[in-house]
Amino acid sequence: MQRPLIIALDFPNQREAQGFLKDFQNEKLFVKVGMELFYREGPSIIHYLKEQGHSIFLDLKLHDIPNTVYSSMKGLAGLGVDLVNVHAAGGQKMMEAALEGLEAGTAIGQSRPKCIAVTQLTSTTEEVMRRELLIERDLLDVVVEYATLTKKSGLDGIVCSSLEVPVINRQLGNDFMTVTPGIRQACDDVGDQARIVTPEKARELGSTAIVVGRSITRANNPLQSYKSIQAAWEGVQV
Ligand code: C5P
Repeated sequence: MQRPLIIALDFPNQREAQGFLKDFQNEKLFVKVGMELFYREGPSIIHYLKEQGHSIFLDLKLHDIPNTVYSSMKGLAGLGVDLVNVHAAGGQKMMEAALEGLEAGTAIGQSRPKCIAVTQLTSTTEEVMRRELLIERDLLDVVVEYATLTKKSGLDGIVCSSLEVPVINRQLGNDFMTVTPGIRQACDDVGDQARIVTPEKARELGSTAIVVGRSITRANNPLQSYKSIQAAWEGVQV
């Protein structure tokens, strides 16, 4: 996986996702299927996207007891997706169980889906973290601590904001993946996100991958928006 731009397919059903993808028929994409689409459509949406040749991040953010996470990941590995995730807040045992489940569920000859952990949602501010989650620390410290625990648990990387990537890379190395949502072009609506950056800035800060949803899916011309964000992300002058 070379520094992909991952499109968040946040659609309520397969029909709408397919309608959106019509414009992208000549592109091999890296797409993200989240709870909204997967809870509605189940494995059939994954089979469809794989048939189209797209790479898939199945973003279900598992957070449960280790035994449940083990069994769930074993099942998800069988879908042949490329990337899955958990919440680091589930702790080391849960993250290790996730990895073991993925290994157990990966067919011989296939590669295990990469597994990353959410540190703090990019919609969470430090104020909310302190007041509602009762975590009395700087947000950056929390992200770094959770990332360190994620690496110790053997996972492949984290989901975080690009703003946190330089510190993560310095402390945990460049081969530890940083998958970063909260991407907006200068002219875009911020929506519910809090810790946002432009694609150019994400590149500069050293993210491994960016996740982009509404800036593409709700654009007047999604293909054009995709191409322009991709060019910015790849550092291509247009
Ligand atoms: O539309 P937008 O670009 O804000 O979409 C971001 C996507 O990334 C959404 O699908 C959201 O669920 C996901 N995500 C996030 N922050 C995280 C983890 C995932 O925004 N920490």
